[in-house]
Amino acid sequence: MRVLGISAFYHDSACALVHDANIIAAAQEERFTRIKHDAAFPMNALQYCLNAGGIKLSGLDYVVFYDKPFTKFERLLETYLSYAPFGFSSFRQSMPVWIKEKLFQKNTIVKKLQEIDERFFPKKLLFSEHHLSHAASAFYPSPFDQALVLTMDGVGEWATTTAAIGQGKNLNIFKEIHFPHSLGLLYSAITYYTGFKVNSGEYKVMGLAPYGQPKYVSRILDHLIDIKDDGSFRLNMDYFDYCTGLRMTNERFHLLFDGPPRQPESPVTQKEMDLAASIQVVLEMVITKLATHLQQETQEKYLCLAGGVALNCVANGKLLREGVFEDIYIQPAAGDAGCALGAALYVSYQKQDAQRTAKDDQMKGSYLGPDFSLEDIRQRLTAAGAVFDVYEDETLLNETVKALVSEKVIGWFQERMEFGPRALGNRSIIADARSTQMQSKLNLKIKFRESFRPFAPAVLAEDVSEWFDLDRPSPYMLLVADVLEKHRSPLPDTYKDLFGIEKLNIPRSLIPAVTHVDFSARIQTVHADTNPKFHALLKKYKSQTQCGVLINTSFNIRGEPIVCTPEDAFRCFMGTEMDVLVVGNCFLVKEKQNASLKHDYQSHFSLD
Ligand SMILES: [Fe+2]
Repeated sequence: MRVLGISAFYHDSACALVHDANIIAAAQEERFTRIKHDAAFPMNALQYCLNAGGIKLSGLDYVVFYDKPFTKFERLLETYLSYAPFGFSSFRQSMPVWIKEKLFQKNTIVKKLQEIDERFFPKKLLFSEHHLSHAASAFYPSPFDQALVLTMDGVGEWATTTAAIGQGKNLNIFKEIHFPHSLGLLYSAITYYTGFKVNSGEYKVMGLAPYGQPKYVSRILDHLIDIKDDGSFRLNMDYFDYCTGLRMTNERFHLLFDGPPRQPESPVTQKEMDLAASIQVVLEMVITKLATHLQQETQEKYLCLAGGVALNCVANGKLLREGVFEDIYIQPAAGDAGCALGAALYVSYQKQDAQRTAKDDQMKGSYLGPDFSLEDIRQRLTAAGAVFDVYEDETLLNETVKALVSEKVIGWFQERMEFGPRALGNRSIIADARSTQMQSKLNLKIKFRESFRPFAPAVLAEDVSEWFDLDRPSPYMLLVADVLEKHRSPLPDTYKDLFGIEKLNIPRSLIPAVTHVDFSARIQTVHADTNPKFHALLKKYKSQTQCGVLINTSFNIRGEPIVCTPEDAFRCFMGTEMDVLVVGNCFLVKEKQNASLKHDYQSHFSLD
């Protein structure tokens, strides 16, 4: 049975193809259209999935949409009505959009599918529930036969938090917290207030937290959120504007935190850092309480996580260390893109007789996107005007290591693109993690992004416990753990008194470029079975440096979706100060390129 899942029309549209419950392909639309978080119907991702599966639309048994547009419409409508007349102006503003996009979404989807094949039969189109799609995306690919599944996000139809039990191929939600009470929206409110973009800046807030002191925790707990002993919670809607207006927070919220929101792109101050630290503490408090209570209630040993909040890898790492569950599995595409996959898996398991037997992680390292043959890469790069050598694997790795140890920044493009927001060594920029200059060089000259943002380490899976306080794989960069004491450097007495970002300039460990100011690191373990080439590169690098850790950051600049094609990679290479580009077995050095192909690149993308 072949099932195609679609998520669209909110943010991060995506498609996923599943064949007899095996995951064949998955990709986000933004990678093809080059529009970050593209919410359009994912026509390109859909075509890619069909091509990857070698089928036509008519070869699908079902197409399944990731949520129920009508229930979502009902939630929007009821919310506005219950706050009337306060929300009337935004109601009036949004109404035409809803009518077109929400209420008649079913027709829109059918029409889009009939553009591909006019005989597409509307009865093949099914609708899953938003949080069920999230839950399915975490449980079905997990290695667990049975597990508790916790989903947390901004909002789907009504639910914002759900708990489910997965067992074999069954998956049943047994508890829900409903809109407007939402951890995702609370975190987004702080994201908005600290001057970052909602739905994309949350990750920055998490990265900012280690610079701050959690000074505002009691203010948040006293005024914004009421957390019960079982981890369930209610927000005090007197402080939020997302039900009635088009903003996240209102004047009362601003008074509570002593002033208006930070203007986007203005300097980040200690206040934003302290707020980030405070919301992180509150988030961890709720998640730990929820998980602990649910574990006691269900006695489950394993936990699966999905929903945008599950991308908070600091909270995930904390939860793991609390030891409430023996192990945790987190869907790498934890945001709404992953719902396309979850919806497809759910329908696959419900509509066919085959039993589910838990095996290894079924996400295949999340390498589920497009790849390109060597011949194809050659042709594309040549057409783009690139000058390159083609090396055998061994020479390719040797040359790349040589460049790494001389502190070059390398675009590393290999095989299938990753599904989910993180680059995991196939569409990555890599560099020497031991370099004290690398963090600022990468942020300012390559990524053109805020200088406070930390980088993540990619480490040989077998070496993870050698470097970090972590005893298990973290293949999707979704767990944070500390750099071991033995690798840390002594800090000057003045360290504590330094202003947040100044701390970054003090080398904190043998791998300073991937060690945050609190010694934490957002770890990706690299595995020989899911990514042999990247693994081999790390091994070779280690043989020369005694260090099996590299910086791994996504191959893009600020505001740009991660590169998808060799042409995207070459464009980014030429538009930044990247030194070397490796695409498959093609090796490009900046000095050899035609200088007239260098161009203003940054201005093509709006800031995220
Ligand atoms: Fe969601």
